[in-house]
Amino acid sequence: MKIAILGSGAAGTTLAAGLSRLGHAVVIGTRHTGKESLEKWRKEHSGVSTGPYSEAAAFGEVIFLCTSWQGTKEAVEMAGIWNFKKKILVDVTNPLNGKEPDKTGRLHYVPTGSAASGGEQVQAWLQEAHVVKALNTVGSGLMVNPQFSQGLPAMLIAGNDDLAKLAVSDLLSQMGWKDIIDTGGIDMSRHLESLYVLWFAYGFRSGSWNHAFGLLRK
Ligand SMILES: NC(=O)c1ccc[n+]([C@@H]2O[C@H](COP(=O)([O-])OP(=O)(O)OC[C@H]3O[C@@H](n4cnc5c(N)ncnc54)[C@H](OP(=O)(O)O)[C@@H]3O)[C@@H](O)[C@H]2O)c1
Repeated sequence: MKIAILGSGAAGTTLAAGLSRLGHAVVIGTRHTGKESLEKWRKEHSGVSTGPYSEAAAFGEVIFLCTSWQGTKEAVEMAGIWNFKKKILVDVTNPLNGKEPDKTGRLHYVPTGSAASGGEQVQAWLQEAHVVKALNTVGSGLMVNPQFSQGLPAMLIAGNDDLAKLAVSDLLSQMGWKDIIDTGGIDMSRHLESLYVLWFAYGFRSGSWNHAFGLLRK
């Protein structure tokens, strides 16, 4: 499958490397194609190309949005709104203020325009895309091949289009997620985004970052 990753931070490069290893053709969209650190990374990941946001978005059949929240609107505009039409957009973002956590390890969200969450705002910007919130509830190091000896971690997803959620679930299962839980429409993003604050605060307080949420059933 042709996959675009918008944003070349920790989440974007981890997902690009993981999806490329699975045999997908991956292009990372970035503002800085010639950046030394990114170029060095790309040479170590020969299956991944880089290009401007618009080139990556035009290429991708599925697009992963991995931009800092502050840069997300600009990135989407640079990518070209027409390049998202009828495509699946996996929204990995969390609408954080980009600052350090407070003394208790709490990160802080910023208002998301007229929407109640980042996922809903992204869907409002890109009305013809099928936005699926996913992968935002764990740190980037756990996004691909999550391995836990204590049980199955859950990947919680949300989106308005059932077929898009099925396609994203298939990609997630290729990436090693076995318990993928459809939580409902894109309006559930407001709850999934809050979970990342909990995930981060636990890491901050415990000094360990190898944890993920699971759902027990009986
Ligand atoms: N890192 C994690 O563990 C993690 C976990 C869960 C969710 N998330 C979410 O995933 C997203 C990416 O996180 P991250 O840690 O990988 O990286 P990040 O440091 O938040 O930034 C990612 C990328 O955003 C792009 N960007 C920044 N400002 C921009 C602007 N004004 N216009 C266009 N693009 C801009 C940059 O890409 P270029 O410089 O290449 O253009 C940057 O590399 C965030 O929303 C974050 O909250 C991250």
